[in-house]
Amino acid sequence: MAAVKCVGILTSGGDAPGMNAAIRAVTRSAIYNGLEVRGIYRGFRGLIDNEIAPFKTQNVSNIIQQGGTILKTARSKEFLTAEGRQKAYENMVAAGIDALIVIGGDGSLTGARIFAEEHNVPVIGIPGTIDNDLYGTDLTIGYDTALNTIMEAVDKIRDTASSHERLFFIEVMGRNAGFLALNGALASGAEAAIIPEVATEVDQLAELVQNGFRKSKNSSIVLVAESEITGGAMGLADRVKHEYPQYDVRVTILGHLQRGGSPTANDRILASRLGNAAIEALLEGQRNIMVGVHDDEVINVPFVKAVRKDKPINRELLNTLRVLSI
Ligand code: F6P
Repeated sequence: MAAVKCVGILTSGGDAPGMNAAIRAVTRSAIYNGLEVRGIYRGFRGLIDNEIAPFKTQNVSNIIQQGGTILKTARSKEFLTAEGRQKAYENMVAAGIDALIVIGGDGSLTGARIFAEEHNVPVIGIPGTIDNDLYGTDLTIGYDTALNTIMEAVDKIRDTASSHERLFFIEVMGRNAGFLALNGALASGAEAAIIPEVATEVDQLAELVQNGFRKSKNSSIVLVAESEITGGAMGLADRVKHEYPQYDVRVTILGHLQRGGSPTANDRILASRLGNAAIEALLEGQRNIMVGVHDDEVINVPFVKAVRKDKPINRELLNTLRVLSI
């Protein structure tokens, strides 16, 4: 296996706070270890369009505190085709890049895996998504910041919910995963979280009402994970209007607000550790893995495992939420 001399780094898919901290860590760790670095703009699309520039330590100064990604990001349709990936490979070789570091979520790491296998290129993934839905890592970069954003937003909505004695459904992101909704509910003292992992098993809305929901309260806040399976906040509010008209219901969809902002200390630390770990893994000869954390240790997770769709939520948290909502 030829030694790696030059790494390309890109961010792909939905941006997440802390991606910049990861770009900084990868760049600095690579240079520290004697490697050259190329920044690839606009994700895989940028690789196809040849948007590649040399990166020095100064390129990543003063970015650890910034949300978004200085490398920009995209969801590339062309990279889904073999022709697109061939073009990306040719540009990569022409730019002298012999390994790739990909920061992104499940779609991005799936693309990275296919590319790595097809062209025999060393690729290391770094989990960057607010959804926390990558299997094998306890946390993904951006998740903690998004949770804190949700908590602050819900605190504000609570003021008006309680003044008007209303029921609020607040929809949060997560792309079919309930981590943001469940932990956001716990952090903000919400009454319940309606999440896709459970929605297939029980009618969570009916269960809530039957269990004496709002017996001792005038206002209520329920966090809902965006998903066809949960029906989303709008779908649930429609049901309430028809099935439980005694409630004065309102909906807030937090949307892309959740993806912005300066990363929390936890996200900056996670991004710094994983960025450095990605370069160390590459130098150790690791290929086609995602670096992650488990029990506060950095671990390597094969791509195929990381993108499994069934990362489990902690059911104990659901019970805690239920107990605390009396
Ligand atoms: O994967 C991150 C995420 O923010 C999801 O939670 C959400 O479903 C999706 O991206 C939204 O994507 P877009 O920004 O392309 O609308």
